[in-house]
Amino acid sequence: MKTVEIKPDIYWVGAIDWAVRDFHGYVTPHGTTYNNYLIKDAQVTLVDSVKHDFASTTIANIKEVVDPSKIVNLIVNHIEPDHAGAIGEIMSVMPQATIYITERGKKGLERYVDTAGWAIKTVKSGDSLNIGKHTLHFLETPMLHWPDSMVTYVKEAKLLISQDAFGQHLATSQRFDDEFLGCYPLFELEDSVKDYYANILMPFGQLIKAKIAEIVKLGLEIDMIAPDHGIIWRGDPGRIIKMYSEMADGKADLAVAIVYDTMWHSTELMTVPIMEGIKDEGVGCKVITLRATPMSVAIKEFWKARATLVGTPTLNNVMFPSVAEFFYHLGGLRPKNRLMGAFGSYGWGGGGVKEASEAIKKMGLEIMEPGMQIIYKPTAEDKIKCYEFGKDFACKVKEYHKKFD
Ligand code: FEO
Repeated sequence: MKTVEIKPDIYWVGAIDWAVRDFHGYVTPHGTTYNNYLIKDAQVTLVDSVKHDFASTTIANIKEVVDPSKIVNLIVNHIEPDHAGAIGEIMSVMPQATIYITERGKKGLERYVDTAGWAIKTVKSGDSLNIGKHTLHFLETPMLHWPDSMVTYVKEAKLLISQDAFGQHLATSQRFDDEFLGCYPLFELEDSVKDYYANILMPFGQLIKAKIAEIVKLGLEIDMIAPDHGIIWRGDPGRIIKMYSEMADGKADLAVAIVYDTMWHSTELMTVPIMEGIKDEGVGCKVITLRATPMSVAIKEFWKARATLVGTPTLNNVMFPSVAEFFYHLGGLRPKNRLMGAFGSYGWGGGGVKEASEAIKKMGLEIMEPGMQIIYKPTAEDKIKCYEFGKDFACKVKEYHKKFD
């Protein structure tokens, strides 16, 4: 892989992971990249590392630009192993380098690798490092998305190296947004941004808003945003700032995701007239079968839609296990600004819809009650009721959606 000069004397020296389909449990159908950046200056500086498996790739890339033994600074913006996993190998070819990292990052890094013998300096927001023609400014971004996280702003290059923030799991031969959009549709890029945000950053919307406001207040001139995954925002960096601001404010499509599972197809049979009712009210609708869908995809579809209906059979008086797992994942992501409801089939005592409704309320989301239950298999009359339930829900979605206009 050739390096790419993203700004004069600043090089992408990362790795493209075309093969990864399971990223710590999340599906990555488009692979990903691990981006790190080399600044050729009086003090040669490497910003970030890569995943352990790609240590030799990035070292080979670095060697295309400089002798690694000439690197004197390593900036560690984030210690998660997809970025810091190769630090041991990298430090072995540049043992004289000083690591710059947050205090929390230093403590965390010591848990992952043996840092004995390495020079480590901790930095905090407001600190800077002059390396010659360039000055690096550090800005901590705690819990975006780990406690150690920070970003590095290269003032003279108007470049923000943003670690995970603004990234996407997207392996591509293009390095820049304008290059990518010359070959692929915008939807593909935006969908990857939303997938990443939904599964990783959903809990941190308010922190994101505050951090963007802080960056604006600092008056930083930024004409390129270089995240640690996916494409670099060069053609239109404002696009990703706007997307993040809007998602943090709760932007969603006027649409319903029906997320369900089924035992003997009864709950599944309910989804069809419910979907028809939603559609006939002019609201978009996608039907997601949990058993056939990776969890991170179901979470993405939840995030993209203004509202979600959860369909669950009753099994032993409680929700179906896959539906409970969906709520388990979703609850951890602390969703906001979404409307939900529940439906399902039961055989005798019921309980699945009740438990799903309680799970929705526990997350603090708005809910349309009562949920809809039918006994055993839906009759023709039940299907008409399902259709009306879908229409009612869609009407409520349209009303609720107006709050976000
Ligand atoms: Fe891409 Fe938080 O690591």
